[in-house]
Amino acid sequence: MTESKAAPRGGLEGVYAADSAIGKIDGELGELRYCGYLLKDLADHTDFVETTWLLWNGELPSQADLDSFRPAMRQERGLSKEILALIGQLAPALTPMDCMRTVVSALCFDDSPSAGDDRATNLHRGVRIQAKIPTIVAAYARLREGKDPLEPRQDLSHAANFLYMLTGQVPTDEEARILDVCLVLHAEHGFNASTFAARVTAATLSDMYSAVTSAIGTLKGPLHGGANTAVMEMLLEIDGVDEVEAHLDGLLARNEKVMGFGHRVYKVVDPRALVLKDFSQKLAAVKGEPKWFEMSEKLETLMKMRKGIDMNVDFYSASTYYYMGISPDLFTCIFAISRVSGWVAHILEQFSNNRLIRPRANWIGHDRRDYVPLDQRG
Ligand code: ACO
Repeated sequence: MTESKAAPRGGLEGVYAADSAIGKIDGELGELRYCGYLLKDLADHTDFVETTWLLWNGELPSQADLDSFRPAMRQERGLSKEILALIGQLAPALTPMDCMRTVVSALCFDDSPSAGDDRATNLHRGVRIQAKIPTIVAAYARLREGKDPLEPRQDLSHAANFLYMLTGQVPTDEEARILDVCLVLHAEHGFNASTFAARVTAATLSDMYSAVTSAIGTLKGPLHGGANTAVMEMLLEIDGVDEVEAHLDGLLARNEKVMGFGHRVYKVVDPRALVLKDFSQKLAAVKGEPKWFEMSEKLETLMKMRKGIDMNVDFYSASTYYYMGISPDLFTCIFAISRVSGWVAHILEQFSNNRLIRPRANWIGHDRRDYVPLDQRG
């Protein structure tokens, strides 16, 4: 590990932990690139599966690449009866992220343990995990409501199929496209906490399932992916646009973090948040329910005025998903449905040039103490 010029404040701030050629963030410019391509261009011109190919292979796919990759991803959407039974057992008791973490870990159950650890096998594992995560989330959501899970549909895109499996309705083209772009936007973000957790696990030469499971557990926290659910909980707590200011002032007076704001790397507004803001505004008009967008916009303005802190990716994703009729406690799962593509890319990159990741602690404890027998302790 090498240290940058900035003095570290803990939390590995400013520390470069390994080489990478996947996602590059320019925190000063507010720019994000995947393998050199500007995220905005990818969001405008590709879909999530094409972006995934880019992240896993470092190059945009040819038509022939896509003609084999798309069906490979679709064919892996289904879950075995054992995995569905496990979700059925867990759904009444576990939160969505706890269930996802446990079930992704269990996906090794119907993988072949003797298949080895070469890149092709790990790519196939990546396809399996990425294809099945939306089916896991949708099955969980339906089972906890006492409904039967729906079989994935081969004729729908990754995003449209997820919304179909969740709601039983094929989404409009506009909703499917909006969710697909959300997946592209969330797919990769350098050495964020969950990706770093995946790489630490992979660097011990553990396996793909274990590394993705580590990442899911790390994404769950409200300082990372869990913030999108927390943002919506905050909006639901506030009693309309007129109450936004008092609510925010209360949070700041109590020194509480305002969810959906702030970022370790961006010094200006997160470019993904701007695209999500447009989606939230568009859906507010389509649904004829401006409240959630207007409350969010007021919070955004006031937070900038009071603290000078910009929104992050989680802020407008909350109202965007809520307008799509998705339950707030599933929002972090949607983040995982997308970010798994980045995790797999980083796990493959770690395996391809591996060194154990093992930092050291800055010691602040007792220097040296002599053992005190039990009967002599005060
Ligand atoms: N609300 C209020 N104050 C904040 C916020 C916030 N959301 N974010 C940062 N600050 C303040 C801190 O209080 C601190 O002030 P101080 O220096 O006076 O003590 C200063 O800004 C620096 O904040 P840190 O927490 O030290 O910054 P750090 O880089 O460690 O944390 C983080 C970044 C975790 C994202 C933080 O901004 C935060 O907690 N945000 C809210 C949770 C959130 O939205 N997380 C999602 C992040 S994006 C993602 O993971 C997908």
